[in-house]
Amino acid sequence: MLKKKSLYQVAVVGATGAVGAEMIQVLEERKFPIERLLPLASARTAGETLEFHGRPVVVEELTATSFEGVDLALFSAGSDVSKQFAPIAANAGTVVIDNSAAWRMDPSVPLVVPEVNPHALAGHRGIIANPNCSTIQMVVALKPLHDKARIRRIVVTTFQSVSGTGKEAMDELLEQCRSLLGFKEPTPQVYPYQIAFNCLPHIDEFLPSGYTKEELKLSNETRKILGDDSVRVTATTVRVPVFVGHSESVNIETEQKLSANEARAILSTSPGVLVYDDPGHRIYPMPLDVVGKDEVYVGRIREDESTPNGLNLWIVADNLRKGAALNAVQIAELLLR
Ligand SMILES: NC(=O)c1ccc[n+]([C@@H]2O[C@H](COP(=O)([O-])OP(=O)(O)OC[C@H]3O[C@@H](n4cnc5c(N)ncnc54)[C@H](OP(=O)(O)O)[C@@H]3O)[C@@H](O)[C@H]2O)c1
Repeated sequence: MLKKKSLYQVAVVGATGAVGAEMIQVLEERKFPIERLLPLASARTAGETLEFHGRPVVVEELTATSFEGVDLALFSAGSDVSKQFAPIAANAGTVVIDNSAAWRMDPSVPLVVPEVNPHALAGHRGIIANPNCSTIQMVVALKPLHDKARIRRIVVTTFQSVSGTGKEAMDELLEQCRSLLGFKEPTPQVYPYQIAFNCLPHIDEFLPSGYTKEELKLSNETRKILGDDSVRVTATTVRVPVFVGHSESVNIETEQKLSANEARAILSTSPGVLVYDDPGHRIYPMPLDVVGKDEVYVGRIREDESTPNGLNLWIVADNLRKGAALNAVQIAELLLR
């Protein structure tokens, strides 16, 4: 449990990464009560300097002794690091909010989106999991509709930006654009194929079923967060040449009929959601609209004419922010209450 204090010692594991940098920015913006910020990363970047509230802070190498005196650690350095170091931190009395996939489906670890299932935090045992970026934005938008009309089935196709893979992937997209505009053939390194001017229907590893692990995360995490194993989910996840912002085409079937207008009205008063839906005026969410924004944007809300109780939605959010760093900091804020 996080002991009540006026100021906390907070570590960010993976502080030099795409998500870690956003975590530090969000902690600063939201004035999280911090006495000392400890940025941790690998030996590769240890010694580098970051800025927090206008002051330099030196990145330290993550080791088994890093967590002495640390109250709270936000982890964002991949599953292997989380599997190894989150239990070490928790045993040292640090509360861990983990952004990797390492602990999400562990039944003893709460998987939390503050707008959706804050109650799941109760009784945590030192490790709390932050869901996958695509799952977070989808459940923020769907939970209010589920509460009203009970969702039976979700069909989702994602259009995920390269920042979801990390900073090397962002560099790769930029480099490939530069090469191609200079009539040079790029050599893919992070992704199996060229990502610039292309779409890859492949995120994370393929499973024998033909689905990818990312697609399975969307199904399993959605059911765990909604606390409803009866919701059927099928996903296709696609990497697109966008730097920041994940988009999702989501089709839902509900038990009770929900009109597009009813859905719009419900979502317009739902926490964390911004309805951005006026096609007549070409108002619909796009990744460029959501960069740096906290809300999950929802547009293109319309009834599915092929089935009695179906709705289509287009859901867009900043994957580094609500999809990762902001959600983690919001969980930390809940722990302070
Ligand atoms: N990007 C997203 O939208 C998103 C959303 C949800 C969840 N996540 C998850 O967040 C995690 C990080 O993602 P990212 O996009 O920030 O990746 P990234 O940009 O590649 O950054 C990785 C970070 O982890 C650190 N790191 C790597 N190996 C380490 C080690 N052995 N010991 C200590 N630190 C180590 C790196 O430090 P160095 O700089 O020293 O190498 C860097 O700070 C992943 O688990 C990812 O699945 C990402």
